Amino acid sequence: MSRIFSGIQPTGNLHLGNYLGAVRNWVKLQDDFECIFCVVDMHAITQWQDPAALTASTREVAAAMIASGVDAKKHIIFNQSQVAAHAELAWIFNCVARLGWLNRMTQFKDKAGKNRENASVGLYAYPNLMAADILLYRATHVPVGEDQKQHLELARDIAAKFNHDFGVEDFFPQPEPLILGTATRVMSLKDGTKKMSKSDPSALSRINMTDDADAIAKKIREAKTDPEALPEDAKAMEGRPEVANLLGIYAALSDTSLDDVIAQFAGQGFGAFKKDLADLAVAKLGPIQDEMRRLMDDTAHIDAVLKDGAQRARSIAAPIMTEIKQTVGFLNV
Ligand code: AMP
Ligand code: TRP
Repeated sequence: MSRIFSGIQPTGNLHLGNYLGAVRNWVKLQDDFECIFCVVDMHAITQWQDPAALTASTREVAAAMIASGVDAKKHIIFNQSQVAAHAELAWIFNCVARLGWLNRMTQFKDKAGKNRENASVGLYAYPNLMAADILLYRATHVPVGEDQKQHLELARDIAAKFNHDFGVEDFFPQPEPLILGTATRVMSLKDGTKKMSKSDPSALSRINMTDDADAIAKKIREAKTDPEALPEDAKAMEGRPEVANLLGIYAALSDTSLDDVIAQFAGQGFGAFKKDLADLAVAKLGPIQDEMRRLMDDTAHIDAVLKDGAQRARSIAAPIMTEIKQTVGFLNV
């Protein structure tokens, strides 16, 4: 059986990269897989989060999933901290994963920056928690953006080592990454070599899912480009990362291929293209944003969805966790 698990951190500023690189693809997977989508609040606190903002952001991410079209009745939407088994399994995986494996994680190096000594232990062990998220449900497929590929490889290594160390061949599956769509890496509007990120200090670098039409248009108008016209073909786009990014966003939002978009705008100036892109973004995101706002005004409804999702997640996880504990040799009397 195929089961999907994926997660998004409620760390504020849900942006176009999260939508095009993650949530939108999840919606497309619902017909073919049993899906579990998680707001990973325990991952979020690996870096300081204001408690009230964390709560609000948890609801916002859930609202974005629902507004984008995830069916919370047929599938599961919940927040991680409501299912304690994530933390239990993460501890076991802390004892399976090797220091050398974690030392290779590039996201830790990026996030910890120069002041490594001052990073939380949680930030370092974060990939073990992510492996626990996935393997707690024996998920087989994990839709993520490119940036999460290395973490998924670690989850595969942990699964294989657990199976091997405890002599339980095939107990944990090898989860496969699903890197979908044309916008696997949406880049900053101000620097085409950096990914669009929640933590970028420049508000103009990203389009937030809460931005109104004017803000979206302004950010696209002020997006970095270069003095040349739009490229005639894909080859002419080389070395122009900002241009490639805007064309990629256009292709993703309009569900057309990059080549078609290049052909459509070949040789034109940026003024008209940016206006078309802004109109397209507002047309595609507007209805989702309206629905998000409606949901955010009804927190009782969002909380009920998360509560129900957590209950169903727990009932899938419980028998698997019992088997894991028995396998490890934990006495349960
Ligand atoms: P995060 O915001 O780090 O919790 O990421 C949530 C999901 O969005 C993950 O699947 C990421 O791979 C994806 N994602 C985050 N930033 C981008 C981006 N700039 N482009 C494409 N996907 C992204
Ligand atoms: N680490 C992921 C990110 O920052 C979020 C995440 C946590 C996740 N657990 C997961 C993604 C399990 C997929 C599967 O984007």
